[in-house]
Amino acid sequence: MVKCVKVDKRDAEMLLREIKVCGLLDCKHRIERDENFVYIPLKDAPEELTVLHQKHGEIEFVERNMTRSAERPRHYSESLSLPQEIMKQLPSSFDIVGDIAIIKLPEKLKKHAKEIGDAMLRTYSSVKTVLVDEGVDGDYRIRKVSYAAGEEKTRTLHIEYGLRFEVDLAKVYFSPRLANDRQRICSEIVSPCVVIDMFAGVGPFSVAIAKKHPEARVYAIDINPDAHVLLLKNIVRNRVKNVEAICGDAVVEIQKLPDADYIVMNLPHTAEKFLFLALKKLKRNGKIFLYTICKRDEIRTKVEEIKNKIAETGRKSMVEFHEVHTYSPTSSVFCLIICT
Ligand SMILES: C[S@@+](CC[C@H](N)C(=O)[O-])C[C@H]1O[C@@H](n2cnc3c(N)ncnc32)[C@H](O)[C@@H]1O
Repeated sequence: MVKCVKVDKRDAEMLLREIKVCGLLDCKHRIERDENFVYIPLKDAPEELTVLHQKHGEIEFVERNMTRSAERPRHYSESLSLPQEIMKQLPSSFDIVGDIAIIKLPEKLKKHAKEIGDAMLRTYSSVKTVLVDEGVDGDYRIRKVSYAAGEEKTRTLHIEYGLRFEVDLAKVYFSPRLANDRQRICSEIVSPCVVIDMFAGVGPFSVAIAKKHPEARVYAIDINPDAHVLLLKNIVRNRVKNVEAICGDAVVEIQKLPDADYIVMNLPHTAEKFLFLALKKLKRNGKIFLYTICKRDEIRTKVEEIKNKIAETGRKSMVEFHEVHTYSPTSSVFCLIICT
């Protein structure tokens, strides 16, 4: 018997993405379907399963006889033979942007980057390049990457819910882990409306919102000129006519824009320091989607602090939050939905 999630087939794509991102998918068994439900086999990882359960209280875990997958390797670690000590430290999850895999390696494993990269290329036929994630840094939030295996490139085309984004991982920030959340934000929006995406990057929020809401007017600001150029391309590539791309500092540029019904603030390490600026631009009953990194056991305190600070400006607010993905063993990225 295999532990799996039983999920309504309409919700399966979103949940499967999340399960993959968490490294929870048991690749040794097949995903199965019946008329109404999809059964996704899970690895035995109690901590991650608890997080998944907390996020999706309504999902059902069941034990089921599942068919084994064909015997070709499903995870890159199965086609690697390194000393046991090293094998134990191999990361189970990694990101895929377009046809580039990006993996974070503990310091001790970096000298095996080429072998690990080659194993990934052998295992995942859609991956053409493997890069090592050396951490995100600076105002532009650019990920430092080093080459591990495959084609030597950092530029790729990433497809997310049918939208296509050109990304250069050495020049701009992009995270595929927010795919589900971008859809969630799109469904929170009611148009016609004005939306300001203060930290737009190559445009995954702006373009998704504009596509879903042709009657919305979306202003997409980014300070990184490389991100701005890719954003312009992504607007054309996805044939959206209602996004205005602005290259500059959000602190300055937002002041020139009309008042907004919705403001997206995806700059998790520092977005809070821009909150009051955003509040000044927000129409009454508008909503701010603010992404932040916080220890999981401190998020409620943080929400209360934010509500109190907003109250000091004479505005009443309601703040809802949800966890987007884990960031470290104790902290996660959260999205705060601030209505005021
Ligand atoms: C975490 S990334 C998010 C990008 C995009 N929203 C996404 O989901 O891929 C934050 C972005 O904010 C931009 N940024 C940082 N400070 C800024 C500022 N003061 N004004 C405008 N953009 C800024 C960075 O260049 C970066 O592209």
